[in-house]
Amino acid sequence: MSRYWSNKVKNIKPYTPGEQPKDRKYIKLNTNENPYPPSSRVIEAIKNAADETLRLYPDPMGEELRETLAGYYQLRKSNVFIGNGSDELLAFSFPAFFEPAGKPVLFAEITYSFYPVYAALFNINYRLIPVDEDFNIPEEGYDQDNGGIIIANPNAPSGKGVTVKSIEGVLSRNKNSVVILDEAYVDFGGRSAVKLINDYPNLLVIKTLSKSHSLAGLRVGYALGNEDLIEGIIRVKDSINSYTVDRLALAGAGEAIKDDNYFQETRSKIMKSRERVSARLTEMGFRVIPSQANFIFISSKQCPGHVLFQSLREKGILVRYFDKPKIDNFIRVTIGTDEEMDCFLEAIMAIVPP
Ligand SMILES: Cc1ncc(COP(=O)(O)O)c(C=O)c1O
Repeated sequence: MSRYWSNKVKNIKPYTPGEQPKDRKYIKLNTNENPYPPSSRVIEAIKNAADETLRLYPDPMGEELRETLAGYYQLRKSNVFIGNGSDELLAFSFPAFFEPAGKPVLFAEITYSFYPVYAALFNINYRLIPVDEDFNIPEEGYDQDNGGIIIANPNAPSGKGVTVKSIEGVLSRNKNSVVILDEAYVDFGGRSAVKLINDYPNLLVIKTLSKSHSLAGLRVGYALGNEDLIEGIIRVKDSINSYTVDRLALAGAGEAIKDDNYFQETRSKIMKSRERVSARLTEMGFRVIPSQANFIFISSKQCPGHVLFQSLREKGILVRYFDKPKIDNFIRVTIGTDEEMDCFLEAIMAIVPP
């Protein structure tokens, strides 16, 4: 604690990212990265962009990438905003759409743990919607006075998804609030609500290339929504940093969207591995929350979550453990390659013999 810190910084409890250890080689199943490399076309595009033009600032709005995304989703360019990972888009959205010290923003009790951090940073009140023991969030939970809503679909760390009909219910009953839909994991079997954008001017869908396009290291996310909402985020961006996405990232991201075949192939492989591993763990007596994401959330009656986490770590396998009420007996396991998942299953069988 430094006496030079502002009170805000003294009091904030920042988000803790999953570890990226350097001490030994681990099987990394802890940060929901994609185990497959990015498309070779992406690498090629980045190499080609690494030239003398790097002395120039990038296009502040990434117009070419916006155009590519608009074409992909059959929207207008004015419906698309690009940012430095979806975390940045979420961060910009708080001051753009939520009133400091105003009505509470609603989000699930168990969800992405960055939301309360942004709320604290921007002085936004929030209220948690309780989840039941299967991690379901009742749609009616959002039927209360609020200053905004955030829904991760599929949710993290449970992997549970909700239907587009349910999202539409929330949107139609909350027309005075901005509803942010965090679709970071939607490409692994969830249902995207992007098609509702034209009907609901209060819907902002936030997506990322980090997971389904194997580009966590490039830091590119995007938001899709009514052009007034997009204009709101642009205002925040241009009040903080006009050049959030660099030239190499713009080049790589555009190619990732264009190489749709590769995206389809890798996401199918991940979904297939997830189903195989989930079935095997269920046979072994684990509780496996049905997942529509590139990770599974599991618990065992025989072995507490923190012991599973630690024992796997000792065997060179990193997973994620959250020491929080309701989920402290679970571990979250990112779906890796089939070989990695076989090692994981072997290790888990040694820790909790079937
Ligand atoms: C629910 C959710 N939203 C957003 C993100 C952020 O992704 P990125 O900033 O890499 O786009 C994550 C990353 O783990 C996530 O779990």
